[in-house]
This record gives sequence, C-alpha cells and structure tokens, in this order.
Amino acid sequence: MSIRRDHETTNRPAQPIYLDYQATTPTDPRVVDAMTPWFFERFGNPHSAEHKYGWDAAEAVDQARDAVAAEIGGKGRDILFTSGATESNNLAIKGAGRRRREAEGRDKIVTVASEHACVLESAARLEREGFEVVRLPIGRDGLVDLDAVEEALDERTALISVMAVNNEIGVIQPLGEIGKRARAAGAWFHTDAAQGFGKIPLDVDEMAIDLMSVSGHKIYGPKGVGALYMRRKKPKVQVEALMDGGGQEKGVRSGTLPTPLVVGLGAAARIAGREREREAERLKGLRDRLLERLEAEIDGLFLNGSREARIAGNLNVTIPGLEGQELMAALDGIAVSSGSACSSGAPGASHVLQALGLEAGKVAASIRLGLGRFTTQEEVETASDRLIETVGRLRSRRGAA
Ligand SMILES: Cc1ncc(COP(=O)(O)O)c(C=O)c1O
Repeated sequence: MSIRRDHETTNRPAQPIYLDYQATTPTDPRVVDAMTPWFFERFGNPHSAEHKYGWDAAEAVDQARDAVAAEIGGKGRDILFTSGATESNNLAIKGAGRRRREAEGRDKIVTVASEHACVLESAARLEREGFEVVRLPIGRDGLVDLDAVEEALDERTALISVMAVNNEIGVIQPLGEIGKRARAAGAWFHTDAAQGFGKIPLDVDEMAIDLMSVSGHKIYGPKGVGALYMRRKKPKVQVEALMDGGGQEKGVRSGTLPTPLVVGLGAAARIAGREREREAERLKGLRDRLLERLEAEIDGLFLNGSREARIAGNLNVTIPGLEGQELMAALDGIAVSSGSACSSGAPGASHVLQALGLEAGKVAASIRLGLGRFTTQEEVETASDRLIETVGRLRSRRGAA
C-alpha cells in the first residue's frame, strides 16, 4: 500500500525515504476516510444531548472508545480521550498522584530514568510539590531490573509509571512482571504505551495495568488526539482533573471532544488490531535485513538495547567515531533521527542512551532508524546503501584529515 498523495503537485521534489516512524507516522488513508464525514455533514457536538447531530457524534465517540479498549483487553467505558500521550501521561501521573496523596496519604512515585520527558517532567512537578520520586536505572539492555522495582514499591507508593516501549531504543519493558509487583504493594500501575499500543500485545488485566496512555499519531491516526485507559474497578482508579470546564469525560477532562480525531483514533486502533501480528512479522524481516547489512558493512557499529525484547520497527545504532548530527547532515535522501523528536527542535544528548551507560562520544554517535507500515524492501535496500556509503565517505575524509 502506498500513502495517498493525490493532494500533491506532480513537480514536487522526491521526498526522502522516511525512517523515523517513532517520531510520528503518516495517517493511514483508511483512517482519513473514516474521519472525513465527521468534518462535514456529521459535524455535531458529541455533548449535544438534544438532537440527532449530537447523538450520532456521541455514538461514534463511544464506538471509538470500544475500538481502543478492544486492543488492550479493556472496556470502552474505561477510555478517556485526550489531546495525545503527553496529556494522558500528565493526567495519569499528576492526577493520580495528587488524588492518592489527598485520599490515602500515599506520596511516592516510582518511575524509570529512560521514560519520555512528559513522564519525567510530570514526576518532577510532583517532587516539587513534596512527593518522593524514585527514578529506577536501566541495564545495558535498556530494561528495568525487577528486583529494583520490588524494592522501590511500598505502602507509600501512589503510582509506578513504566513505559511499554521506549521511543528511542524500542525495548519492551516486562509489563506483566511490573504489574504483579505493583498490585502486591497496592501501587497503581501506569504505562506510557505511546510506542507500544497497536505494536505489541497488551492486556490490562493480564498485566495488571491500571492506567495506560495512547497516542493517535504513533499508530497511523491523526495528530492531536490520544487516550487514557483508567481502570474503574479493582482498584477504582481516580484522578484529579488538570483543567476546569464543562466536566466532559466524566469530569476528568473538560473540553469538547474532537469527533473527527477521536473517530480517526478508533479506526487506527481497529486497523492496528487486525494487522498487528502480520505487520510485526513483515517489519521484523525488514529490520533484521537492515541491521544485518549495517553490521556487516560498517566497522564497529553496534545496536543499543536488547536484541530480543524490542519492537519490530526500531533500531538504534552507534557508529563509533562519527557524530550522529554530522551523519544526518551528510545523508542524502533518508529521514532518520538522532533520538527523540518529542522534546523540542534542538537535539540534546539523549538521556536514554546516557541511562544505558553509553559514554558521551558514543551517545553523540548514535542514530535511530524507525520502520513502519509504508516501509518497503526497496527502501530498506536503498537506505542501507546510502548509510554504508555515507559512513564510508565521512570516515575516509576523517582518516585523510
Ligand atoms: C513514549 C512516548 N511518550 C509520549 C509521547 C508524546 O506523545 P504525543 O505526541 O501524543 O503527546 C511520545 C512521542 O511523542 C512518545 O514516544
């Protein structure tokens, strides 16, 4: 399948090969089709309870809740819509932390050094409000140590937040094992699944997950929409709202829901659910081919993070002796990144690679390659050729200098 581009003019320069699927994904044309009527004739406000425009929109929103819930073994009524995973993470961490401190006196948050900035910054906000925050280290494989998790959890712990899949190095954390330990300690378990939802099997009951964040634009849905799964029973999770307003989304997230975006997220979740296994198999083949070529033809190149516990569509590699920035500037026709696109424009040293224990020179010499639904075998071959050739050229220029 190719990405529909019929809005483009024919004389546009060719676009670079896109290998940055952890930064964002193109919206699937099937998702756009599902969204379109909700911009036009079906434009009603889903909170209008007095006429058909509103009822239709409300029904579409509820179907989207069911679609998101179905992908994680949850119930539609446990899904809230937000503007994205950043908001969901803020709501889960600050909302649940503050609520539990107020209601039960639990004033400790446990998280991990390699989390996304919006998780770390939410935890840091609570720390400034007097919470104790524990930031667990990761091993050389990028995974959290389960004994350390167990040790950190106690009767004061309000919440433990551990991401499902890391956005830079693609490693999958042992969610079920963490959930078990959290439940035993009475701590609520939140997972930022922005990079995991629709890519790996997730089950909120099996994994004892109480809160889960989802992002539309990482799963071929639109940007600006996300979801928060919030368990309503055993335990009954409650969060303090971050915004005041009309009390939509059961009083937790005020504001008119953007029906077209919500419908798009639901459609994206449905497609991901149907295609996840087959697509992961296909991507794994492409990723393994890419890694095999890079390892064979670039001296000293190594993979960051576990080889086994990782999603199919991610590689993060270090090319010793080169600057990732320099490589990207020299790379013609391939869009890759040096790490997280989610912080701001200016790339700083990756806190994830630092947490892995890479020394500064190696952190700077790393790039992230993200493959996804529209990546083809041909693109992988071309990208491998270009990377190998560019590294060779830069290294020989260095050698000559
Ligand atoms: C792991 C992770 N969490 C959270 C986010 C933020 O998601 P959003 O862009 O939907 O706010 C991202 C990416 O941006 C991410 O990769």
